[in-house]
Amino acid sequence: MTGELSPIDKAKYVAAKRSVDFIEDGMRVGLGTGSTAAWMVRCLGELVREDGLKIKGVPTSTRTAELAREVGIEVISLDEAKWLDVTIDGADEFDANLNLIKGGGGALLQEKIVATASDQMIVIADIGKEVEHLGAFPLPVEVIPFGWQTTKSLIEELLINMDVLGRDATLRMNGDRPFVTDEGNYIVDLHLARIGQPHRLSMALNQMPGVVENGLFLDICDVVILGFGDGRVETRDINDGSIAKDRIDFVESENLFADLDD
Ligand code: 5RP
Repeated sequence: MTGELSPIDKAKYVAAKRSVDFIEDGMRVGLGTGSTAAWMVRCLGELVREDGLKIKGVPTSTRTAELAREVGIEVISLDEAKWLDVTIDGADEFDANLNLIKGGGGALLQEKIVATASDQMIVIADIGKEVEHLGAFPLPVEVIPFGWQTTKSLIEELLINMDVLGRDATLRMNGDRPFVTDEGNYIVDLHLARIGQPHRLSMALNQMPGVVENGLFLDICDVVILGFGDGRVETRDINDGSIAKDRIDFVESENLFADLDD
């Protein structure tokens, strides 16, 4: 199975593998969503099953909850946990200030609530996610279904006065129906090419009736762990400015590499 993994998947795996070194007995851990976060959940599950690691996990989507239970992690709700020690999640883009675009997988609302309720947010990513300016990846905006077309038109109007290069907005689809989030909402993807003032844009979007949340994660992420296809890992901490580099040996493990469908 590992022989078939692409360099990107290897990069995601080594970033995930390094991230679980941050987890200690007794921690309440936010579990992100997406293919990179799925590697992390598998790595954590292995530590729970084989090393007796004792943690409680708060998933950020129904699919992460299913995977976490499957690999042996005790799953609790955010309301049961109240506050988390750390959240580990993937990202679609991150910049030098560790500001992010998230929501490519459609889980941005729960992801932002969970990350914000954590002492620390760690992002795991391959090198392709690093950008100079946010915005090449379409910015997801979660909107309530009621009046979504009106909300979309208002968002398009708002973008005229924003520091962005593109202004197209598209409803995310799942086949021939709108994609529906875990919270029963729709997602409008904004094709902005480059976001000049992310804080201003994020605040303006979230003030609109009908908008629930947007995928800009600003001043939330503390650490990015970057994985490379050859096993190198770089850990960047925005709080102390440190950059640590090391390498993870890629060892085949049937339990980890079987049946990843995310
Ligand atoms: C899901 C997310 C994911 O973290 C993001 O889309 C990255 O996914 P992947 O690790 O599969 O590249 O925000 O809502």
